[in-house]
Amino acid sequence: MAVPLMDIQAQYGPLRAEIDAAIAGVLDGGRFILGPEGRALEASVSERLDGRPCVGVANGTDALVIALHALDIGPGDEVITTPYTFYATAEAIARVGATPVFCDIDPVTYCLDPDAVRGRIGPATRAILPVHIFGHPAPMAELMAIAREHGLVVVEDSAQAFGARAPEGEIATFGDAATFSFFPTKNFPGMGDGGMVVCRDEELAERVRRLRFHGSKDKVVFEEVGYNSRLDDLQAAIIRVFYPHLDGWNARRAEAAGWYAEEGLGELMTLPGVAPGATHIYHLYMARHPRRADIQAALKQADVASAVYYGIPMHLQPVFAHLGYTEGDLPVAEECARTALALPMHPGLTRGDVATVVRAATAVLDRT
Ligand SMILES: Cc1ncc(COP(=O)(O)O)c(C=O)c1O
Repeated sequence: MAVPLMDIQAQYGPLRAEIDAAIAGVLDGGRFILGPEGRALEASVSERLDGRPCVGVANGTDALVIALHALDIGPGDEVITTPYTFYATAEAIARVGATPVFCDIDPVTYCLDPDAVRGRIGPATRAILPVHIFGHPAPMAELMAIAREHGLVVVEDSAQAFGARAPEGEIATFGDAATFSFFPTKNFPGMGDGGMVVCRDEELAERVRRLRFHGSKDKVVFEEVGYNSRLDDLQAAIIRVFYPHLDGWNARRAEAAGWYAEEGLGELMTLPGVAPGATHIYHLYMARHPRRADIQAALKQADVASAVYYGIPMHLQPVFAHLGYTEGDLPVAEECARTALALPMHPGLTRGDVATVVRAATAVLDRT
């Protein structure tokens, strides 16, 4: 592709020697699971996130499941979340035996709409699970106020947004827990599967550490049924090589997002918005138009990649049919699912690439 959607190899290329050295260090040290690299990564992420204890796990899905489990969310509980997210968010709720309750989203930021959340709180509601979707921070001040008012716990799904900031502070510092994914296409990636749980306090972190290792602190006494879900030291060592570059990568994504606007894409498509005072890190650049299929075909013709994400929102997925949602229940999410298209976005994107994308996308649309 002349302009790829993301370009992982270009991002890693300049760091190849450092990555090789980090891998060699782990091989030489001979500690592969729960070793010094994992601990060092947990410590440096914790330092960034107001000293909140961080626990590495095997992937971002396990991070959600373990966080919910550690907060005692289970059968009979309802967890309010967004329908416009990757399936893992809703799956994790169901995996712990709870029921996802889907609320509509804000069409500007694609994040959970606090007013919709208020309307769905009932006697069984135990938690809110906002997603900082596509790199935009969810409205944490409003959601935390709702949670406090109703005695709910909050888990921030931060898989797509490491480094994004709400006006009141960096994401993953608000909820009782927050979760990250280090899947290779994420804005803060690894080179395989990996995840992390950020905890409100040491007591919760202790439970998460126990759950990630079969419910045991010491491999001798097994206190509860847990998981086998650790972040291995090879992954942690590689992620640590990327860590100093995270903010620079995020800044370049934001600059590229600005170019899309400056090149005039907003005259024909609805561009992703940013809430006042928020910092969007543009994990994905999602623009909307009712003629999405035509735009996508034109981009393909011009050798430009694009992709549809979450084309079927969670409340209409077959797996949740028993919950009884029907089309039209959550109109904003459904409209976004129908019309939003991910355009190329990565730290190496050039202004020329963006101009190519905008030219190809808009040429197909009727300007009159
Ligand atoms: C919003 C969201 N939540 C959770 C996950 C799950 O992360 P993982 O793929 O590491 O299990 C992902 C990514 O795939 C995601 O995008």
